[in-house]
Amino acid sequence: MADDEPTITAQMTVHADQPGATIHKEIYGQFAEHLGRGVYEGLWVGPDSPIPNTRGIRNDVVAALKSLSVPVLRWPGGCFADEYHWRDGIGPRAQRPRRLNSHWGGVIDDNAFGTHEFMDLCEQIGAQPYVCANVGTGTPQEMKDWIEYMTSDSDSALANERRKNGRDKPWKLKFLGIGNESWGCGGDMTPEYYSDNYRRFHTFAKSLSGNRITSIACGANGADFNWTDVLMSHIGNRMNGLSLHYYTVPSGNWAHKGSATDFTEAQWHATMAQTLHMEVLVGQHSAIMDKYDPNKRIAMIVDEWGDWFDVEPGSNGGFLYQQNTLRDAIVAAINLNIFNQHCDRITMACIAQMVNVLQAMILTDKQKIVLTPTYDVFQMYKVHQDATLIPLELSAPPYKSGDSAVPTLHASASRDSAGRLHLSIVNLDPDHSVQLTAYLDGLQAKNLIGQVLTAPAMNAHNTFDNPDAVHPTAFSDFQIKADQISVKLPSKSVVVLEIQ
Ligand code: AHR
Repeated sequence: MADDEPTITAQMTVHADQPGATIHKEIYGQFAEHLGRGVYEGLWVGPDSPIPNTRGIRNDVVAALKSLSVPVLRWPGGCFADEYHWRDGIGPRAQRPRRLNSHWGGVIDDNAFGTHEFMDLCEQIGAQPYVCANVGTGTPQEMKDWIEYMTSDSDSALANERRKNGRDKPWKLKFLGIGNESWGCGGDMTPEYYSDNYRRFHTFAKSLSGNRITSIACGANGADFNWTDVLMSHIGNRMNGLSLHYYTVPSGNWAHKGSATDFTEAQWHATMAQTLHMEVLVGQHSAIMDKYDPNKRIAMIVDEWGDWFDVEPGSNGGFLYQQNTLRDAIVAAINLNIFNQHCDRITMACIAQMVNVLQAMILTDKQKIVLTPTYDVFQMYKVHQDATLIPLELSAPPYKSGDSAVPTLHASASRDSAGRLHLSIVNLDPDHSVQLTAYLDGLQAKNLIGQVLTAPAMNAHNTFDNPDAVHPTAFSDFQIKADQISVKLPSKSVVVLEIQ
């Protein structure tokens, strides 16, 4: 950031003349689970709250999310999904049962936020719903009834019950997850046993009244390639998507993940290395999927990803509340670049999670709200939604720490329907600026505008007292020479350029 920062040089070639696949907007999806203060407090405050709300959903959070163009929202979990019974969350709120949330903090969920409230939230922010059905403790009947309740336009008892509860028109539900982490919290199943269960549940995942369900099978935990292989061979012909969960845990040790805000440069570097492992996982799972599905009919859905640190000191260990720094912004940008680059196979991804949980967009404290550096990255990157991938090559010296080396730069590019080329570039190095020359194949640059997200410190973050410490600013450190641009990327930064 400082003008006197040591600078290294790098080159990039942007193949604007070789457009690739579409970057489905759903890659910019999110996830909200009944976990900690994610749904309750973060999204739902109830209609009687002094916090301004619309039918119980807080207005400030909705406004911030609307501005991000959130394409899809996954709910109700996560591990919670395999203990959730949808009937608990419909009808008059005062009569809904109070249930123990045994996964997350052992707190009582009064079910004030159920199907109608979730669908209302989706409509308020303009996102498509992605519902995860309960396979762990539920039945095919329960899932079938839920789908009918939500999507049937018929005169059936379930459709009429929905009408009685205030929703006349059926909702559209495209995305249906069949279980969550069925290899773990969702039932501790083997891939063979899950495949059999999937067959049974999938039979009853019916498309009704013109609604078309896309069935998403529960995918692997990180590097469990056998899970992918077994599912592709057993149930590949019955699925539209296969999920993948991978979290960045800097220490690689779930018992001591490390602080969200208090870390060394070695831990920064380790975080980058762990994040880049997503690239390896996507590549290897894709290769297995290719074996069974060379035409890429089945989508890879990375429906849980992001940083997972130790909870904030003093907060409930089961609530997964963590701060969010410039480091998280870099992690988000790298992951989104990876998903963009693999958009021929990845058609959806959901960051964990939306508000107050893990790598959140938004943090709330009663009536206060903070937009995180991760929020800023989603705001900067939304230009890639539904755009066409443009391939690129990078040549830069590595960024090293001890024996470990990662690329200094990470990037992706796309062209939108108006013909504008967007280039998102991350400088992972916290100590060096990079003077980058980008050669534009098949494009003459006339004008360039951009934004940069950076800060003096690696752990810079926004707080309730200082909510604007880290936000993007206009980027002006560039020169244009027809089919070449030259940009100076500050250390530890995310830059998004629009080349016109
Ligand atoms: O996102 C938090 C939890 O992480 C989810 O509930 C679970 O699916 C995963 O293990």
